[in-house]
Amino acid sequence: MNIIDGKKVSARVKSDVRAEAEALKAKGIGIGLAVVIVGDDPASRVYVNNKKKACAEVGFESFEYALPASTTQEELLDLVSKLNKDDKVNGILVQLPLPKHIDENAVINAISPDKDVDAFHPQNVGHIMIGDFSFLPCTPAGVMELIAETGIEISGKKCVVIGRSNIVGKPMAMLLLHKSGTVTVTHSRTVDLPSVTREADILVVAVGKAKFVTADMIKPGAVVIDVGMDRDENGKLCGDVDFEDCKEKAGYITPVPGGVGPMTIAMLMRNTLTAAKIQNGCQD
Ligand code: GUN
Repeated sequence: MNIIDGKKVSARVKSDVRAEAEALKAKGIGIGLAVVIVGDDPASRVYVNNKKKACAEVGFESFEYALPASTTQEELLDLVSKLNKDDKVNGILVQLPLPKHIDENAVINAISPDKDVDAFHPQNVGHIMIGDFSFLPCTPAGVMELIAETGIEISGKKCVVIGRSNIVGKPMAMLLLHKSGTVTVTHSRTVDLPSVTREADILVVAVGKAKFVTADMIKPGAVVIDVGMDRDENGKLCGDVDFEDCKEKAGYITPVPGGVGPMTIAMLMRNTLTAAKIQNGCQD
């Protein structure tokens, strides 16, 4: 069993981003990320704080907009429109989920595609589908970095993704496919899920259920990547994979915390850097 250290890999990514940000600053180009949070979801608050902290670490400015849960869709769309026009803002991140009275798709569609550092806008989703993209979807891109860290080739491998969300499952499948994996996407209606997951050389789990994947569901030696961020029966942070149960059987496994979570944020920093480079006409 090998534990893949997301903190270590994310530190490396952030250090590279920081070096590039410093070089841009020397040319008079500052980098800014606007982070918008609506309401007071505690998990979202933690994510937003971590994103702001990462901005400080890599030398970006962050602009937080913490709006009350009563904010109307129109008010939020007005803010997005203002941020689209603000030259100090290179990237815009609207933390999801939004309160129920706001149409998330309407908000995502309003973000200027060249500032869409989450890569959620349909234009960027289309680019990802085709394989010609500037912005990587943050969590799937972080997972790809962690798989790369194992040294295991994706090409030709059986890859199984559990979960089909727009944020993780679907773009994850696409990135694995771009690397020539043989990809199966499973979900809540999949019949006999364990028989599918047991075939996986690479298993990516994004279901949002604490300790959902147990040792009997994995192939010996598999790469197991846990995107979950859940609470166990004692309220302790855990993933979608039962780590203790699976760690000896897996070839490589990510912990929670300290696996995918830090990578998502590191990739967001990389996307914000990319956005700033494109907007300033200094892309490699
Ligand atoms: N909520 C959960 N994950 C994410 C993410 O990657 N980006 C945003 N904006 N909201 C999220």
